[in-house]
Amino acid sequence: MNKIVVNGGNKLVGEVEIGGSKNAALPILFAGILTGEVCIFSSLPRVSDVLLTLEILRALGARIRFVEGGDVVVDYATVRPAIPPIALTGAIRGSVYLLGAMLGRFGRACLGGVGGCDFGSRPIDQHLLGFAAMGAAEDADNGTLCLTAAKGLCAADIVLKMPSVGATANLLMAATAAEGKTVIRNAAAEPHVAALCDFLTAAGAKIAGQGTDVLTVFGKKPLHGCRFAIIPDMIEAGTYLAAAMATGGRVTVKNVVPTHLDAPLALLREMGATVTVGKTYVTLRAPAHYRALTVETGPYPAFPTDLHPQLAALFTIGRRATGTGRVVERVWRERFRYTEELAKMGAEVKIDGECAEFLPSRLLPATVRSPDLRGGIALLIAALSIKGRCEITNAATVGRGYEHLETKLRGIGADVRVLG
Ligand code: EPU
Repeated sequence: MNKIVVNGGNKLVGEVEIGGSKNAALPILFAGILTGEVCIFSSLPRVSDVLLTLEILRALGARIRFVEGGDVVVDYATVRPAIPPIALTGAIRGSVYLLGAMLGRFGRACLGGVGGCDFGSRPIDQHLLGFAAMGAAEDADNGTLCLTAAKGLCAADIVLKMPSVGATANLLMAATAAEGKTVIRNAAAEPHVAALCDFLTAAGAKIAGQGTDVLTVFGKKPLHGCRFAIIPDMIEAGTYLAAAMATGGRVTVKNVVPTHLDAPLALLREMGATVTVGKTYVTLRAPAHYRALTVETGPYPAFPTDLHPQLAALFTIGRRATGTGRVVERVWRERFRYTEELAKMGAEVKIDGECAEFLPSRLLPATVRSPDLRGGIALLIAALSIKGRCEITNAATVGRGYEHLETKLRGIGADVRVLG
């Protein structure tokens, strides 16, 4: 996926089937290591971050089979306590989950590097402090971060400085192997963290408080293989709803958990959209013109940072937006790289620290470069609103998180081609 070519201006109308959540799939695939047995996953999204995760697991010795009907069978019995190639782990953020999973299974974990979208610094101090509290000592082996729990992991009472998704997931995994009761306070409550709890529970773990900010793990229960369905991707769903807004269209996203989208739906309604919520679907009918608002991102259930760029793109579309839009980015202060590219399309943006202001602008066709996953999809949303041809380069960044993008967009009337 090198380039996306968009001839925008079409109203998007129709239905989109939402796939499994990338940010749930990654920790769950790594958590399977803890079982040492066979796990069968359904609704695993075929996005590059997930495919790379499977490559990492294969490099560690796991046997992986794609079966007819879409399930993926992973046999973790043959996973070895090895260091996977940095070329693989360095390409995705999710590889950080190897720390909790390998520590839990083998008492030692080593990781050469982690990748992911570049939002400036992405520290893992909260992960490391939590592991240390559970008795894991840190050493560096030729630039490789290693953790060892020489006497086994012990239970701990951990208070996170911020509700980090990654730290919560990593510590949950390690805690399943720690003797006694581990409590993680100020834990992330994102649906994908709750899904990890569900997976671990299905594998035999005992966890209380799932979906809240206090998680309690009663460790050392024997884990076993299981079947697990990955939850729908709320960010993918929100993205298609934003695309409907951008084009004055009407789109139904199917196979969603509507409550996961409470904050984005409230905002889209406030902007003027008509939103209908069913048990597993959401329909959005866009108004001809919508109000730009102020939105502040935050940990779940607040407005998700991973929908910030898509929303900001809506604020810049002069044909549809009225008023000044503002985004206050509380999670990734430097998640504004996409605005330089939006500016190439004519968007007027002012950035001041973690706040950005967007004026409804006359957007024009342009060639722009995707800076990261959500920034790239925001550029695509802007392009869908522009009459004329736009090109988005460095599109592999978008392929990290959007499955069957071309097919899904064409299915609702977009003139889009994904090249390479
Ligand atoms: N933080 C620390 N120290 C830590 C951990 C986090 O200071 O030890 C800070 C971060 O710098 C950031 C905030 O805490 O300011 C939240 O970070 P978090 O750990 O929650 O993020 P993450 O686990 O690295 C995941 C998703 C991101 C998503 C964030 C927030 C995956 C693979 N990544 O990242 O997804 O933005 O949670 O919800 O699950 C995306 O899908 O586009 C994406 C970037």
